[in-house]
Amino acid sequence: MDIKAKVAQLSLEDKIKLLTGEDFWTTYALADIGLRKMVVSDGPSGVRGELWDERSPSLSLPSATAFASTWDTEVMGVIGEVMAHEARRKNVDVVLGPTINLHRSPLGGRHFEAYSEDSVLSGKLAAAFVRGIQHQGVGACLKHFVANDAETDRHTVDNILDDQTLREVYALPFEIAVRDSNPWTIMSAYNRVNGPKMAASPLLNSMLKSEWGWDGAVISDWTGVQSTVDTGNEGNDLEMPGPIGFWGEKLLAAVKSGEVSEKAVDSKVERILLLASRVGKLAEQESKKVKQFTNAQLQEIARKIGSQSIVLAKNQNSVLPLESAKTIAVVGAHARFGRCQGGGSATVYPTEFVTPLEGLTSNAPAGTSIQYTLGVNADTGLIQFDKNYLKNPVTGAGGCLAEVVAPDGSILLSENRFGGFFNWATQPWMFQYKFIRVSGIFTADNDGEYQFGVGMVGNYKVTIGDAVHEGFIPMHSDDLGEFVLNPPCRSFGHTLRKGEEVLIQWEYPQGSLPIPIASFLIGFREPSRSQAEEFLDATALAAKSDVAIVFVGTTAEIESEGHDRKDISLPDGQDQLVSAVAKVAKQTIVVVNSGSPVEMPWFDEVDAVLFTYFGGQQMGSALADVVYGVVNPAARTPTTWARLMSDLPVVNTTPTKGELHYSEGRFIGYRAWRKSNRVPLIPFGHGLSYTSFTTELLSADKSTAKVKVVNTGKRFGAEVVQIYATNSEAELFERRLVGFAKVELQPGESATVDVALEPLVFKSFHGKWNGVAGNWMITLAENAFAQGSSILV
Ligand code: BGC
Repeated sequence: MDIKAKVAQLSLEDKIKLLTGEDFWTTYALADIGLRKMVVSDGPSGVRGELWDERSPSLSLPSATAFASTWDTEVMGVIGEVMAHEARRKNVDVVLGPTINLHRSPLGGRHFEAYSEDSVLSGKLAAAFVRGIQHQGVGACLKHFVANDAETDRHTVDNILDDQTLREVYALPFEIAVRDSNPWTIMSAYNRVNGPKMAASPLLNSMLKSEWGWDGAVISDWTGVQSTVDTGNEGNDLEMPGPIGFWGEKLLAAVKSGEVSEKAVDSKVERILLLASRVGKLAEQESKKVKQFTNAQLQEIARKIGSQSIVLAKNQNSVLPLESAKTIAVVGAHARFGRCQGGGSATVYPTEFVTPLEGLTSNAPAGTSIQYTLGVNADTGLIQFDKNYLKNPVTGAGGCLAEVVAPDGSILLSENRFGGFFNWATQPWMFQYKFIRVSGIFTADNDGEYQFGVGMVGNYKVTIGDAVHEGFIPMHSDDLGEFVLNPPCRSFGHTLRKGEEVLIQWEYPQGSLPIPIASFLIGFREPSRSQAEEFLDATALAAKSDVAIVFVGTTAEIESEGHDRKDISLPDGQDQLVSAVAKVAKQTIVVVNSGSPVEMPWFDEVDAVLFTYFGGQQMGSALADVVYGVVNPAARTPTTWARLMSDLPVVNTTPTKGELHYSEGRFIGYRAWRKSNRVPLIPFGHGLSYTSFTTELLSADKSTAKVKVVNTGKRFGAEVVQIYATNSEAELFERRLVGFAKVELQPGESATVDVALEPLVFKSFHGKWNGVAGNWMITLAENAFAQGSSILV
C-alpha cells in the first residue's frame, strides 16, 4: 500500500486532525482514504477496552513483576497471544504495554508494572510479548520512553543521566525490543530527560527513528504533549488523549506560520497510517483473525502463568509442598481479599477472582482442614461494593442503581450496576447533569459499626438511612492518575444489627474534576475488633494447627500509579503478626502479596516464603498449585530484595529543584549491590524448586553458551539457566546478565541447552556502540551474586 500517496491526497487540515485523538481512547477516521478509527487501551496485564467498568470485564493476568519472574520467553509469547484475543474481543487495536522502565528504586510507584532491574531480561521478555501480540495483528506499545522509573513529579521531573547510562541501561530494553520484535508503537514518557519533555525530545527522531531505523508511531503519554512547536517538529506522532490539547488548531497555525514544518507533520501522518494498515484499519483490509481462546482456556492460562511466576524464596526443611492432609491456619487480610493487580492505569475489571483463601480451600488434599482468621486490622482501604454486598432498591437484584440527574430533577441516564467504581468520560450528558446518584441497600451480616465511604475529589453527600454526611475532599494531587485511579476516601460509621437493612445513597456533583470525567468509588469496611483480640485469635489458631500460612502485602494506596512509596515496609503491624505466629506455630509459611519488594524482618523466623506478586485473577488457584505441589515452582526474582531499606544502594526518587540525578550511573539493581559490596536478602535471579539440578558450563563464545542441566531430584521441574558476563579488564563486580534459558526436565533427565547471548552487553556506548577491549568471562551462576563456573572468551 502506498502510504505516501495517501498522505499526498490529504489537506493540511486533515493531516493535523489525524495527529490528535478523537477522544480518550480513539483516533480519527477519514473515509476519503479508507481510514477507520483505531482504539488504544491499557494495558500491561489485561486489556481494559473503552468502557472502564464492571459491565465490560477483562482477563486480569499477573503483574509485570510476576511475568518477569518466569524468565520464560515462551510464556511471554502466550501472554501476548492471550492479550491479542482480549484486545479483539474488546475492539482494541493497540494495547498500551509492555512497560519496560526499570526497577531503579523499589520506591517507584509503578515498580510492579515494569519487569526488572535488568535491561537484558526486560528487553528479551518484552520482545517475546510483542511478537506474541503483534503476530495476531494487534499492536503493542513499549512504554514509557525513556527513564520513567518513578512517579514523584512525573509530569515535570527532569531526569539527569549521562549518555552511557541512558544507552547501556535505560534505553537498552527498548533497543533490544525494537530490534527483536519491531513494536508498532512506543509511548513517549511524561518526564524530561536532560532538559526536554520526552514528547518534545530530539531522542525520538535521533535514537528511535534514525539510529534504530524504527518505523513505528510514537504515542504521547496521556496529556504528555504540553507544547506545540517543539513537539510538532520532533518525533512524537500522535497526541493522546483528544480532542483538546496542544496540537489541533494550534499546530495548524504553527505549520501555517512556518514554525513547524509540514514535512514533520507528513512524517507523523505516514507513521499513523502505517500503524492503521498494520492493525487492519486502512482501506479494504480486514483485521487479522486472531487465535481464539475459550473462557476455560483463558482461566487455565491465567492459572498457569500465575503458578509459574510464584517465587519460592525460602523452604527450610522442605516444609513445602503440603501434600498430605493437615490442619492449616490461614491468617491475614490478603488471604481473604488478595491483591490480584496493582493500582492505576494497569487496572482492569477481572472477569472473576479466585482469592488465595478460596484457592487454598477448594484445591486442598482430601481431609485437609482450613480455618481462617484476620490477624491484623490491615488498612486495606474500602472494600468496593459489588453485587454480593448491595441490593438495587428498584429491581431488588444484587448491585445498585446509578442515576444521572439533570438540574430540573429529570433523570438523564439510569443504569443497573454491579460494581463500586464509576467512571464516565466524554458522555453526551457530561456538561448537562447536576449530580450522579448511586443507591443501594446494604444488609449487615454481623452486629457492629460498619464504615461506609466514598473515594473521590470534590463535594460529596453520603446518606446512610437518616444520617446525612456532606463535605469536601480536596485534590490530593494534580496528577490525573491519582485523582481518578486512586482517589482519597472518606468513610462514616454506622451501627447495624445482624440482618438489618439500610438504604445508602451517594451523590457526586458536576464539576468535581478539572477534566470532563466523572469518577468515584463507593465501598465499606466491616466492624472491626481490637488489635489485641485479632492477634490472640491468630496465635491461638496457629498454635493448634499443623501449619500456619500467613498472608502479608501492600495496599491499593501504597502501590499505585501517580505516587511513589515512602518506604518498603509492610503496613499495619503485619510484621509483628508474622513474628507472633512464627513463635507459636509448628511451621510457618509466609505468602507475600506485593507487586514489588518489601522488608521482611521476620524472614529468618519462618520456615518458608513465597512471593505471589500481584497474581492476576487466578491467583488463589495458582498459589494452591504451588502450595500443594501440583506445580513445582521455577520462578526467579527479577529484582534484588533488600533486608532493610537502609541497605539499598539506590533509593531516592524525589527530585531536587525539579531534577532527579541518576548519579549512580550504570549501577542499579544487582550491579549497584555488587559495587557497594552489600549483601541483599534475596539476590536477583533467586528462586527455589522442589527438585534439585546440577548445571555445567560446557562451552561458550560471545554468541552462545552451552550448558548441561541434570534434574537430580525426584520431581519434574524447570531450571532457569543464567549466564553472566564480566570484562576481564573491568572490576569483578561489573557482572551483567547476558543470557538466560529455561529448561524442563523429568527426574534423572538431562539436557544440553544453548543460551543465546545478548551482543550489546559486550559493547559500550560512547557516542556509538563500540567493542570493549579485553576478554570476557562468561559465568554460569545460580543468581547475580552466586559463584559460578566461568570460561574466558
Ligand atoms: C499512564 C500510561 C497509560 C495512560 C492511559 C497514563 O497516565 O502513564 O501508562 O497508558 O495513562 O491510561
